[in-house]
Amino acid sequence: MTNRRPLIAGNWKMFKTCPEAVETAGQLVKLLSMTTDIDVMIAPPFTALAQVSDVVRGSCVSLSAQNLFWEAQGAFTGEISPAMLVSAGCKYVIIGHSERRQYFNETDETVNRRIKAAFDNDLIPVMCVGESEKERESKNTFSVLDKQLKMGLEDFSSDDLKRLVIAYEPVWAIGTGKTATSEQAQEVHKFLRSVLEKSFGNILAKSIRILYGGSVKPNNIAELMAMPDVDGALVGGASLDPETFSKIVHFRE
Ligand code: PGA
Repeated sequence: MTNRRPLIAGNWKMFKTCPEAVETAGQLVKLLSMTTDIDVMIAPPFTALAQVSDVVRGSCVSLSAQNLFWEAQGAFTGEISPAMLVSAGCKYVIIGHSERRQYFNETDETVNRRIKAAFDNDLIPVMCVGESEKERESKNTFSVLDKQLKMGLEDFSSDDLKRLVIAYEPVWAIGTGKTATSEQAQEVHKFLRSVLEKSFGNILAKSIRILYGGSVKPNNIAELMAMPDVDGALVGGASLDPETFSKIVHFRE
């Protein structure tokens, strides 16, 4: 038995205008009004954060951003600082999502800087790691993940990382309808925990929540959550519809 509280997270990616985001968040808050035994967060686009923050205030739903820039302020056109996210009501921030790594040149070094900036501003980073299809086929899954985790968390102490959340998202399972089997997810989550244990000790490794992400749906969430090292889910497509997402949150029912 572990005492890790499950976290179900919704990554809305580049979907929903401000009115659409407010509407979705409002419906979700209603659907989850009786939810108490689980943490829930949603990550709307930057433009909708402040308005969605008003909608979810006082509910079980916390707010997350999908990215941040590590500088406090300055001439960085188009970037968003950690303090801006805090002032918009964010508690979490997703960092190093595979789409950021793939399309926006995110690297393990920039992931590391962003995680540091999140901690410095009391935001909870959700650090994403995952292997591509080619890397899995060439049997490099573990070496790729080992590098992403070690470089992304370089120079942190176990004390710094107490609030860290990790999301294992195999790139081949994101938005493809191909989910890792619960056994495949468990195998990787267990491996990630062992890497954390070697670098930061047993107590931290046991306390960090590791989410699974990649085509999570209402019909596969219970099986994934039954795995001992799966502590929650980072949900993309299925988080856009409040009914569907609330079924994932209520996976025990
Ligand atoms: P998906 O996305 O659930 O649509 O596969 C997951 C993610 O990218 O976080």
